[in-house]
Formats: sequence, C-alpha cells, structure tokens
Amino acid sequence: TKKAFIFDLDGVIVDTAKYHFLAWRKLASTIGVDFTEHQNEQLKGVSRVKSLEKILAWGNKSISDAEFTRLMGLKNDDYLTYIDKMDEQEILPDVTKTLDFLRDKNQHIALGSASKNARMILEKVNILDKFDVIVDGNDVTKGKPDPEVFLKSAQHLNVPPEHCIVFEDALAGIQAANNAGMISIGIGEKDILHEADYVFTDFTEISIDFLNELISR
Ligand code: BG6
Ligand code: MG
Repeated sequence: TKKAFIFDLDGVIVDTAKYHFLAWRKLASTIGVDFTEHQNEQLKGVSRVKSLEKILAWGNKSISDAEFTRLMGLKNDDYLTYIDKMDEQEILPDVTKTLDFLRDKNQHIALGSASKNARMILEKVNILDKFDVIVDGNDVTKGKPDPEVFLKSAQHLNVPPEHCIVFEDALAGIQAANNAGMISIGIGEKDILHEADYVFTDFTEISIDFLNELISR
C-alpha cells in the first residue's frame, strides 16, 4: 500500500534551524536575555509565539502584548534577511534524492512544518512542486508536540497515521509524530532525539533498502 512520508522543513530539508537560532539570539540580546545552543534545542519545532514565551521565561522578563507582537515581528524580519539569500544549494545532502526516490516509488509526500514561512522557503529552494500536500504554521492551532500538523497532512492524503512516516530534527516534532501514532525518524543527534523510532545523522545515512522496507512494511 501507498505510504505517506511527511517531512519537517527547518533542520530537515534545509538548514534554516541555524537562521532561527541566530535571529532569536539577536532578538533576545536586545532585551538583555542570552541563551545557549543547548537551550535552543527547546525552540526547535516550536511556534513563533511559544519560542518567544520561552525566551522571556529564561530571562525572567514580562512584557506587554503589544511589545510581544513587536518583538516577534523584529525576529521574523531578521530571519527573512537570511531566507532572502537562499537557493537550491541550501537543500541538505540527499534530501532531493530521497524525495525523488519516494516519488518514483509512487509514495505520498507531505510537508508538516510549524513555520509560517514554509511555502516561501520551498519556493526559494525550488522544491515546492515535490510535495502533494503542505501543512504549515498557517494551518494549525496547536504546535508540536501536539500531533495536529501531522494528522492534518495524513487526513488530506487519506492515509491512516500508522501508514505515515515522519522525518524530524526536533524533539518536539518527534513527540508530535509519536503522539500521532506515526513512525518517527529523527534527523540529528541520538542523544537529543532518543524518543524517535530511528535516528540518522542526515539523509546520506538512510539507505534505499531502509526506504524500501518502510514502503513495503
Ligand atoms: C519551526 C522551527 O519549523 O518553525 C522553529 O523549527 C520556528 O524554530 C517555527 O519557530 C515557526 O517558524 P516561523 O518561520 O513561522 O517563525
Ligand atoms: Mg525542524
């Protein structure tokens, strides 16, 4: 049967996780808050609102709603200056190869991202047309680890969750996939993504045999 392969965007397809980190850290410094790359793991996969809430909590800051909105705007403006320079070269190794292999094997391909910038980034790196369905930060009310984003992708494709495979670089994303009852594949470090069913450093480590096994299981 046909499976659905659901890809997270930031940190899985493109290395925008580093741009989110740089933009949040710069924004945080303007309000006198600093945080480490280790703390940044908690921001991965998490919505824009939740990210700023966490940063404010780390710095013990409380601000007005208007200031909150203004700071989110500043962070996104800075983030967009990085995105603006992106092109196909920023697609992570073997991602395109994997997408094309799954397409050749007639599998469903979906995007499941928390980002409101997802479509624009896919257009920038010229792979928008490789996805049957895109569910992003504009389509959900509950962020990862809530399974909403992945369940919506599955519903659009009419594929039951147990026939869905999710690729994620964030712990919150792995938890979202697990909460959806899907197979979770971590892209990154084993220590951080230990709740995933499988973990690979990147797509160059994922063999054709393994993909075939997922398809035929
Ligand atoms: C996720 C990123 O994909 O999208 C998070 O991992 C980010 O770091 C979230 O906060 C929301 O993205 P955006 O582009 O709408 O601010
Ligand atoms: Mg991610």
